[in-house]
Amino acid sequence: MKLGLIGIGKVGSQILTDVQYLNLFSDIVVVDTNEKLARGEVLDHQHAQGLTSTSHIRIVSGDYTDLVDADVIVVTASIATDPNMPDRTALTKGNVGVVTDVMNRINAVTQQPLIVFVSNPVDTMTYIATQVNDYPNEKIMGTGTLLESARFRTLIAHHYDIDPKSVEAFVIGEHGQHAVPVWSKMTIAGMPLDEFETLSQKAAIDREAITQQVDKVSFDVFHDKGWTNVAIAKTTVELVKRLVFNEKAILPLTSITADGSLAVSLPTLVTRQGVNHVFNITLDAAERDQFEQAKAYIQQTIDTHFKK
Ligand SMILES: NC(=O)c1ccc[n+]([C@@H]2O[C@H](COP(=O)([O-])OP(=O)(O)OC[C@H]3O[C@@H](n4cnc5c(N)ncnc54)[C@H](O)[C@@H]3O)[C@@H](O)[C@H]2O)c1
Repeated sequence: MKLGLIGIGKVGSQILTDVQYLNLFSDIVVVDTNEKLARGEVLDHQHAQGLTSTSHIRIVSGDYTDLVDADVIVVTASIATDPNMPDRTALTKGNVGVVTDVMNRINAVTQQPLIVFVSNPVDTMTYIATQVNDYPNEKIMGTGTLLESARFRTLIAHHYDIDPKSVEAFVIGEHGQHAVPVWSKMTIAGMPLDEFETLSQKAAIDREAITQQVDKVSFDVFHDKGWTNVAIAKTTVELVKRLVFNEKAILPLTSITADGSLAVSLPTLVTRQGVNHVFNITLDAAERDQFEQAKAYIQQTIDTHFKK
């Protein structure tokens, strides 16, 4: 099983570290326009193979011809992130060029691998990727609001002082300021929120405050640490694992809409073949309104930076 990793900066290198311990891939090919960086990361990761905890797999820095027999490609390639950027959409102008280049180079050698986009703004980049050439759309997806969903569960769990894994909750819409936490469908160990609060006698949660936090926390990490990479790497690697194992997971991911006008994050059934089914779930009035705003924001970003 072969993984291609395009972009080996902060996020890509953390993905490489995590994926090395998954014991899922026998071959990993790293591609970055900064070839020196790619070589250095590969060498550093190879050295971990002198230890018993690390499987002896092949990790190489290479080019697109090495991806001809790849099973999955993860794209984190991006222009440099300005720490003072107001929003991820500030990366759009530069990353349209990056994603176009990446898609053309992949398409020149293969149409087999599933392609997972992480590069921001990830919804718009996923859409652009479907427009560049005739690469099969169902094989192209973005991590979407998978990361926000983990953050949402963590924020809720911290409030109640419980394990985030006991919280069943997800976020849809845009990866960014128009992320939509779906409060109307969240449960804790199967209990709707009201029932959980009554039975646990825990203090009521401030939904508005948590909703505000879902996107803001990423900037807290960004401003304090300088980048985000740990949670997004884990998010991506878990997704890749579920794809490769054909787990038929339903996850909040970004893919192109049925009418082909944009890409947005919704609960999505994914298999080893890629996007299988997108669930246009029922929402309450406020969530519906927020979801429409998310779509309008992504559409505006696409229309501003991309001419069909
Ligand atoms: N989707 C999410 O939830 C999420 C979370 C965190 C970060 N991100 C995004 O992931 C991207 C990467 O973040 P990072 O912190 O690793 O950035 P980074 O600047 O550290 O790394 C980007 C890498 O891409 C390489 N690159 C640029 N153009 C390329 C090309 N055409 N082909 C191959 N490689 C190329 C650069 O040389 C660099 O090594 C950013 O767009 C960031 O906003 C997304």
